Amino acid sequence: MLPGPTNVPERVMRAMMTHIINHRSDDFVELYTEVIEKTQQVFQTQNDIVVLSASGTGAVEASVVNLIKKGDKIIIPVNGEFSSRLCQMIQWQGANVVKLETPLGQNATFDQIKEAFDNNKDVKAFYVVHNETSTGTMVNYLDKIPDLTSRNDAFYVVDSVSILGGIELPIDKWNVDVCMTAAQKAFAAPPGISPISISPKAKKYMIENPPPTMYFNLARYFKYYEESKHTPFTPALPLLYAYREALRIILEEGLEARFKRHKICSDALYAGLSAIGLTPFAKEEDRSISIIALNYIDGLEDKIFRDTLAQKFRVLVAGGFGNLKGKVFRVGCMGEVNHYHVMRTISAISSTLAMMGYQTNAQDGLNIAEEKLQAL
Ligand SMILES: Cc1ncc(COP(=O)(O)O)c(C=O)c1O
Repeated sequence: MLPGPTNVPERVMRAMMTHIINHRSDDFVELYTEVIEKTQQVFQTQNDIVVLSASGTGAVEASVVNLIKKGDKIIIPVNGEFSSRLCQMIQWQGANVVKLETPLGQNATFDQIKEAFDNNKDVKAFYVVHNETSTGTMVNYLDKIPDLTSRNDAFYVVDSVSILGGIELPIDKWNVDVCMTAAQKAFAAPPGISPISISPKAKKYMIENPPPTMYFNLARYFKYYEESKHTPFTPALPLLYAYREALRIILEEGLEARFKRHKICSDALYAGLSAIGLTPFAKEEDRSISIIALNYIDGLEDKIFRDTLAQKFRVLVAGGFGNLKGKVFRVGCMGEVNHYHVMRTISAISSTLAMMGYQTNAQDGLNIAEEKLQAL
């Protein structure tokens, strides 16, 4: 139940046990074209896709170094570890950043973003972290952002590392220019693969203004794919096989069914964990469906709690980041998450709390979660 990496199905694990092929061969072309086409289906886009052999940070960094030049004006909401890192990368490019800071656990409102666009007509790009994994918040107005970006002719860039594949994010319909995610989250694949979608407008810009970098130079990836359906550098082949299998599973389930399962499991976790006396960290209207951040009960020791949960019940959850260390813990609700995971997590957390001297009513939590899970 980590916020990533998430559980990987056996079918996906087994897909890695195959021969290492020549990445300049027809076999590779077959593998990679299937990967690209299926990634386009999950992203709901006709845009170009680049699949990096890198963790999510690689894809995020690529979105920055390929689009941003010194002096560019960039609007970015910041309210946690991952939006802060993204902001830092943008600043390292020498950009002029309009930073919309809000307290942890709370998103900037759409009106605040609109105001930033109104006050900064010369904005070149809007960057946003869709789902702030460090605090369990999620932005709910991504569909409205194109009204602003199109008015100012700005690029629209979304870091959806910890939720794409678990919630509706139709890239073409919502006019997202660049979107990145990572395989180890809602895709339920092993870490090390990170896809990015790039709109024709962003692609043109990247080709005409290539950055002085080798591995993350996306223009090279476009060229290789167009010429031979290859990647410019040696890809992580076993991970690509696993990722392809994970994509097949996603499309077999169907996107709508997958989004519905994520939402129902998330509702059940929030309801069940609240019923045993825990309080979610994020403001109600900004809560993420894939990362459930919960406040620790006063006096509860983070390490002992998580170690007990892991050792006695084999349920893994994550601690908090930075200022939230020791104050919250985070439950992932992504990828393979199902009825069993939800019920077991609630009961294991309740039992762990009891072992640490905090009596909770596990049955209340399980009953309400079961009720919500009926919708599955
Ligand atoms: C929103 C977000 N962006 C970026 C990253 C970085 O991804 P990685 O750890 O795969 O490099 C993460 C990781 O959890 C994330 O949640």
